[in-house]
Amino acid sequence: MTFFEIADLCAGYGTGQVLFDVSLDIERGEVVSLLGRNGAGKSTTMRCVAGAKPPYVQDGAIRLDGDDVTDLKTYERINRGIGYVPEERRVWPGLTISENIRMAINNADDPLSMDEVMGYFPRLRELGDKAARNLSGGEQQMLAIGRALASNPEIMLMDEPSEGLAPFIVRDVENIITTLNEEEGLTIFLVEQNVVMAMDVSDRHYFIDQGSIVDEMTPNELRASPDLRKKYLSV
Ligand SMILES: Nc1ncnc2c1ncn2[C@@H]1O[C@H](COP(=O)(O)OP(=O)(O)O)[C@@H](O)[C@H]1O
Ligand SMILES: [Mg+2]
Repeated sequence: MTFFEIADLCAGYGTGQVLFDVSLDIERGEVVSLLGRNGAGKSTTMRCVAGAKPPYVQDGAIRLDGDDVTDLKTYERINRGIGYVPEERRVWPGLTISENIRMAINNADDPLSMDEVMGYFPRLRELGDKAARNLSGGEQQMLAIGRALASNPEIMLMDEPSEGLAPFIVRDVENIITTLNEEEGLTIFLVEQNVVMAMDVSDRHYFIDQGSIVDEMTPNELRASPDLRKKYLSV
C-alpha cells in the first residue's frame, strides 16, 4: 500500500479551479519534492494536504497509510501525523522560541518533549527566551520546522523552506531535512523553487504546471535535463 497519496485532486478558490486531477504518491521514508514555477499550484496542493482553507477541495482524495484524510480538520490531520511548515514560516512573532514549541506540544495528542525537539536545534536552545519576531530568517525557519516536528509527524510538508535565506543558511535547512529523514525516518514532502537544493535532498521530483502534474523524475534525471528546467522552472 502507498504510504501517502494524492489522488485526482481538484481544488480551487471559490469557483476558480487551480488544481486539475493532481495525483502523486510518496513511500514511507522518501523525500519527494514538488517543483514548478510561481503560481503553478504548489502551495495550493500543500494547503489541501494540511487542511488549510482556502483553497477548497472540489474532487479527489488525500490518503495517509490507507486512511482518507481529505475531510479531516487541520488539528485532526496534525494528530494523524501530518506536520506542516507553511510558506513564509508563520511562527507566532510575540511568543518566545520555547513558547512557540510549547504551544505545538500542548496542542498535540502524542507530541515530542521540549528536549527532543530542541535536540535538533542547538541554536534555538541557546536562544530559547528570545521572541520569535527578533529571530533571523534562518532561525525563524528552524523554529517553524521545530514547531511542526513537535507534534511528532509521520510526514512533514515544507513549503519553500529555503525562500529568502542566504546560501549558507539554506545548507542548514538542507541538513535538518536530511537528518530528520535519515535518522528519524521522517517522510518529507517538499515544495521548492530552489532546484539545486531540492535535487540535493530529494529522492524524487514531481513537476506541476498550471495546476497539473506534468512529469516525475529522479534528481539525476533532472540534472541531465537542463531543457526541462527551462521549460517548467525558468532556471
Ligand atoms: N487565496 C487565493 N485566492 C485566489 N486565488 C489564489 C489564492 N492563492 C493562490 N491563488 C491562485 O492559485 C494559483 C496557484 O497558486 P499557488 O498554489 O500559491 O502557486 P505556487 O505555490 O506554485 O506559487 C495562482 O494562480 C494563484 O493566483
Ligand atoms: Mg507557493
